[in-house]
Amino acid sequence: MAYQSPALNVMIAAARKAGRPLIRDFGELENLQISLKGPGDFVTHADQRTEKLLIEELSKARPGYGFVGEEGGAIEGKDKSHRFIIDPIDGTSNFLHGIPHFAISIALEREGQIVAGIIFNPVTDDLFMAEKGHGAFLNNKRLRVASRKDLTSCLFATGLPFIGRPGHARAMAETAAVLGASAGIRRFGAASLDMAYVAAGRFDGYWEHGIKIWDSAAGLVLLREAGGVVSDFTGRTDGLSGQDILCANEHIHPQLLKLLRGVTV
Ligand code: IPD
Repeated sequence: MAYQSPALNVMIAAARKAGRPLIRDFGELENLQISLKGPGDFVTHADQRTEKLLIEELSKARPGYGFVGEEGGAIEGKDKSHRFIIDPIDGTSNFLHGIPHFAISIALEREGQIVAGIIFNPVTDDLFMAEKGHGAFLNNKRLRVASRKDLTSCLFATGLPFIGRPGHARAMAETAAVLGASAGIRRFGAASLDMAYVAAGRFDGYWEHGIKIWDSAAGLVLLREAGGVVSDFTGRTDGLSGQDILCANEHIHPQLLKLLRGVTV
């Protein structure tokens, strides 16, 4: 049974509450695909409304905590030692395209350290949760990273830049290097779930450049609690900004790091 501190319970309750209207919106999207305005504005609205609802719920239970969210940016709280880091819809493009692979991601930071995180896909009802020192869970089932040691049998996830984002040539070169050394790569489109899937041993590793702290914060604690290693591309595991992420089990992490660092563009 998963250990759930009061703080984690608050985060779970907020995500479940915000998940219900999000499922309704997701169902509505089908009708919107054919509307003149298109679904873009609708999704932006769903994103903003979800973040607002999460902030309201979390503030009720933890007044004074600060926030940093994808939509609203940073909100200073009276309590300077705590803040929630929120992505209301991670995997926005999937959501927009009617692909049920997206998540609400909430992390709790205490004195600059991520101490708890949840990643919730409201469509599949998959709830990934972790609290520092108490393990990582998926719907109450304890999670552990995969135990593979050999790169050639590993399945990896990554994120690729799209129009308007830098790093296309590097992404292509890195992809080629990993394709030539592993059992394959998936690009599922939600960084938080990519990290959760590594924690669950579904993927053997994940890497991406240029993501945001709200995409990776909850995944960070989940991975560490599942026995994984998370670093940036210098190999540094502490004080991560959450922007350049590479994670895997302890055997695969150094091999993947070496392979990706060897890529030149
Ligand atoms: C995006 C997803 C995607 C990743 C992008 C992120 P968003 O987050 O996590 O998988 O490749 O870098 O921006 O915009 O859907 O919250």
